[in-house]
Amino acid sequence: MVTWAQQVLFIFICVILVSFPSTCSADDNNAPLPYGDLFTKEEGHFFGPDFIVAYNSIDADECARRCLQGYGSYDSVNPPCLSFNHRPAGSPEGGSARCWLHSSNADTAVLSSEWDNWPHRNYYQRKAHLSYEELFTKEEGHFFGDNPDFIVAYNDIDAEECARRCLKGYGSYDGVNPPCLSFNHRPAGSPEGDSARCWLRSSNKDKAASPGSEWNKWPHRNYYQKKGYAHHHASSLQGAIDRLNEVHAAHPHLEQLCVFAKCTYEQVTHLLPNLHEVNSYWSDLACYKYSRSCRVDGQWSEWGPWSDCSVGCGQGSNVRRRNCSDPAPRNGGWRCAGKPVEIKECTQNKKCSSGSMYATRMLY
Ligand SMILES: *[C@@H]1O[C@H](CO)[C@@H](O)[C@H](O)[C@H]1NC(C)=O
Repeated sequence: MVTWAQQVLFIFICVILVSFPSTCSADDNNAPLPYGDLFTKEEGHFFGPDFIVAYNSIDADECARRCLQGYGSYDSVNPPCLSFNHRPAGSPEGGSARCWLHSSNADTAVLSSEWDNWPHRNYYQRKAHLSYEELFTKEEGHFFGDNPDFIVAYNDIDAEECARRCLKGYGSYDGVNPPCLSFNHRPAGSPEGDSARCWLRSSNKDKAASPGSEWNKWPHRNYYQKKGYAHHHASSLQGAIDRLNEVHAAHPHLEQLCVFAKCTYEQVTHLLPNLHEVNSYWSDLACYKYSRSCRVDGQWSEWGPWSDCSVGCGQGSNVRRRNCSDPAPRNGGWRCAGKPVEIKECTQNKKCSSGSMYATRMLY
């Protein structure tokens, strides 16, 4: 059954999707993800450094899937896979197919000396790797320190990985902790100390009463704030995160694709079973990543006072009302369930001696 609210959600999503490269049509195609859309291919190249793990006897599509999914020894301590090499089965070089995953790509790494020496291996590089600058603002020389919203800290990771862990809700994050809204990062080799360090926080500068007395005291630490969160109800953000986590538990590669990289609406239509789930996912993703159009479900206000009895004499009624306004539904959120009006019977006999047996007041 398609409810009114679902229809509105769908129409709304069709409107916001104008800003995305996609069409808003039903697509029941359950074809596997077209990995060719996600990776560029260069033939006869082998990318040596930043090796994560290798597999035998799988084809390039499965190798791509493992790269996206963070497969095998990848255990969320390892960095994400940004590229892979693949040697097809039956090449002159050897019998079996082989797949190598890598944590960097040809754009970011100093090229390996092996690059031109392997005519039968092909190099695949992930397209459109997420740029964390799109999702976080950066302020140099600030530390969002002595406040109660500290979640967890890590050593020896760069700002991008720190951003990834903030987005992911990493480490001690267990779905009970609040989401990470900002982080601090000290790059490696700063005058302050040797190693890089990353601190995740559950609040941000806009929300905190004050950034903390340490704010100006750390010239080598930088502050990164998730864009746009100040404008949203924490509950609508948390709702989006909860729903996304549920989807990601069933479809882990969606997280790799859509949270840690950029996915298109069309790709999501290949991975989720129906349009309702696709639209709901897309809307939650827009809320979570870009702080756009967070869904707010309606909630009732308190009941107003009961009205006086509707009659002066005999059987009448009292009425009280409430509004779906605390908050009102927005962006396809559900309308309040239940009735806005409550009525109960009342009996009046005070004015019966005046002669009128009829209602003297209308129900309003
Ligand atoms: C409901 O909204 C109306 C119109 O804004 C207002 O007059 C009324 O007091 C509200 N009632 C409650 C119970 O909040």
